[in-house]
Amino acid sequence: MEAYLSEWLALMVRWFHVIAGVAWIGASFYFIWLDNHLREPPEWKKQEGIKGDLWAIHGGGVYEVAKYKLGPKKMPKELHWFKWEAYSTLLSGLALLFVVYYMGSPGYLIDPAKADISMGAGIAIGLGTLIGVTALYEALIRSPLADNGKAFGLALFAILLVVDWGLFQVFSGRGAFIHVGAVIGTIMVANVFLGIVPSQWALVNALNEGREPDEKVERLAALAKLRSTHNNYLTLPIIFIMISNHYPMLYGHPHGWAILAAIGFITAFTRHYFNLKHRDIHRPSILLASSIMTVTLIWIVAPTPTTSASTDSAAVSDETVTQIVETHCVACHAETPTQPGFQSAPAGIKLDNLSLLADHNGKVRQAAVDTHYMPLGNMTGMTEEERELLGIWLSEQ
Ligand code: HEC
Repeated sequence: MEAYLSEWLALMVRWFHVIAGVAWIGASFYFIWLDNHLREPPEWKKQEGIKGDLWAIHGGGVYEVAKYKLGPKKMPKELHWFKWEAYSTLLSGLALLFVVYYMGSPGYLIDPAKADISMGAGIAIGLGTLIGVTALYEALIRSPLADNGKAFGLALFAILLVVDWGLFQVFSGRGAFIHVGAVIGTIMVANVFLGIVPSQWALVNALNEGREPDEKVERLAALAKLRSTHNNYLTLPIIFIMISNHYPMLYGHPHGWAILAAIGFITAFTRHYFNLKHRDIHRPSILLASSIMTVTLIWIVAPTPTTSASTDSAAVSDETVTQIVETHCVACHAETPTQPGFQSAPAGIKLDNLSLLADHNGKVRQAAVDTHYMPLGNMTGMTEEERELLGIWLSEQ
């Protein structure tokens, strides 16, 4: 019953997190699109302090959008802010991190073959990284480095690369991926909370008090713009990380950290293409380069087919494989799992008998032979030899 209820809890939190994330990133995409499509307004609007004009049709009606250089002379009674989308995405994301990785099966986070740490140590490393890296980012964006956008971008990529590599040394591949995502998400929300929203307050306060925004307000606005540009480039990588936990071929790969770094780079670069395109600068070469990099990555990461050369190429008996699967898999992958915390066969994969095992041939090979992703956290201590025997049996099916 407890496992059943915690499944529901995880489902509800995940559902909420996805909705909040869609609302946040959707709003962020919309405003970037808006900014990039503003056109010069007619003279009478300019007189009012409007610097950009846009017309759109949606949901059966025409919208007229006007962007002020700073703000109208008199602030409207109702001004919409977009911040709870970001905050609720972070809060639900942290809740999900706890439910799935810190309170769920240790195998999601800890891989004893890499680092045999306790759950407490894992949580401390995970949360410590989130806080530490966000603090580092905050220190940097308040330093002179923020005056050089390109150098800052490179520094940010280098920091994330170190975090990615470091976490991959101590956590399971999946645990490392999700923590890199959580670090990026925390930086993005800090950008909203500590930079963008305060700069907007400074502007609103100045306008409300009838003051011309001074240098300080302008400096805050420039930094807010830089923060929002970072968030923009981080959106595609973070969405990738959110869905990557369905793909053990990536995070279960021995060089999973490098794959993540490459995909992070390619997706941010692709985002660059769209940012330029919105400004009517067309650089198809970026898309071409991204495609070439993606195909190269797919090719490099491809699993090398296991051959039976190193073991006796004699056929592996059904008994041997039954023994392996019973020892290492069926506690979880069964009609009724016996492993505490598992309500039903994970990923819908049941391995109660050999014909079921053969049905899932490709996936099983990928999870337990080509990568060490299964058994989860190698809880049962499956050996290389057993993986090889399983691989041989599978290739004979
Ligand atoms: C401690 C429990 C546990 C054990 C033991 C275990 N698994 Fe899994 N397995 C899981 C969980 C949990 C998932 C789902 C992971 C996810 O959501 O990505 C999973 C997913 C899978 C998948 C699907 C991967 C995919 O592509 O989505 C396969 C295949 C698999 N396991 C095979 C095996 C094999 C083969 C063994 C034995 C060698 C094994 N597992 C042992 C818990 C376990």
